[in-house]
Amino acid sequence: MNRNKCIANIKAGYLFPEVAKRRREYAQAHPDAKIISLGIGNTTEPILPHIDRGLTEGAAKLATFEGYSGYQDEGIAELRERISKVFYKGQFGIDEIFISDGAKCDIGRLQLMFGAQTPAAVQDPSYPVYVDGSVLIGAGGGWEDSGYKGITYLPCTAENDYFPDLSALKPNCLIYFCSPNNPTGAVAGREQLAVLVRAAQKNGSFIIFDAAYSEYIRDSGLPKSIFEIDEAKTCAIEVNSFSKPAGFTGVRLGWTVVSKELKYSGGESVNADWSRIASTVFNGASNISQAGGMAALDSEGLAEIRKLSDFYLGNARLIRNVLVKAGIVCTGGDNSPYIWARFPGRDSWEVFTEILEKCQVITTPGSGFGPSGQSFIRFSAFGHRADVEEACERLKKL
Ligand code: MLT
Repeated sequence: MNRNKCIANIKAGYLFPEVAKRRREYAQAHPDAKIISLGIGNTTEPILPHIDRGLTEGAAKLATFEGYSGYQDEGIAELRERISKVFYKGQFGIDEIFISDGAKCDIGRLQLMFGAQTPAAVQDPSYPVYVDGSVLIGAGGGWEDSGYKGITYLPCTAENDYFPDLSALKPNCLIYFCSPNNPTGAVAGREQLAVLVRAAQKNGSFIIFDAAYSEYIRDSGLPKSIFEIDEAKTCAIEVNSFSKPAGFTGVRLGWTVVSKELKYSGGESVNADWSRIASTVFNGASNISQAGGMAALDSEGLAEIRKLSDFYLGNARLIRNVLVKAGIVCTGGDNSPYIWARFPGRDSWEVFTEILEKCQVITTPGSGFGPSGQSFIRFSAFGHRADVEEACERLKKL
């Protein structure tokens, strides 16, 4: 059996396990160090009571004749309906909303659907799954070379307001776009998203819009969904998740919106293909998670989502303030749980090590998110308040 060339093409280990490995090595060498993580964006706070009741009642129902349910395929109809109402003003039918076990898992399945023939374009820096997943399927014929040839990096820097120059886009490609952005924390404005939609339409491309952090937007003028832009239904798919707003990183629940208006160049329905893919390689999200999702989207649940995201945004404010006071230029942290901090002329992994050694704080090196992330460090606001406060004290040493 020969090894899959596409796996051999992937440059390094997945970013977060690499960070975890360096943390372990440091901890072994310094057994007394009290390391605090502002690294991976993993939620830390307990699920709030109303949403938790949804989960436990969902589990209890499964032990009754009346309440038992087995496979739910594309998701419980009531949950799909509620997602359409809460997030999209009811503009999508339930057969356009597919319940998943999370945004990352659906991104992998979307990559399977679009296959090796389709080149990719990513914001640079970007969430590593877009690039690594594209290399894994040999996107744009990338199995023949280094694996990265089929991927166009679109630099997003302070100079371009973290919105890329789209003139470098190849025709017929998948454009991965995340807003609020992981890792930069930048949020695209309505006019910027309209430019993105027009560019996709013009060159026959589709947008995979990752809205996993949309519930962190506090500025009411900023769009929370690509579908706030006219015409997006004909060129975009949106993925979203309960992980970051409701603390479901371990529970697992998300959704993907594929409009029936989305068509390939030959006129075939993307929605029909997505249904085919989802039913072939996925058996649906847990019924218990979906019961939790229903609770999260009623009025009490939405208030809890607000409370939890406010808490993490409070952490973000603390981190950002301490960095700014130290003279470090930052973006994000206001409508996003990530702060993107610049260390001019420095190597990201070198700064990562310096912060670890001086402050015993774990961060994520910006270069792990793409070439334009070099000289940046991402700070995550997911942590207990006392830990974040302690980390902020220590960061004063920078
Ligand atoms: C991150 O730290 O970028 C994310 O938490 C990882 C994820 O959501 O998969």
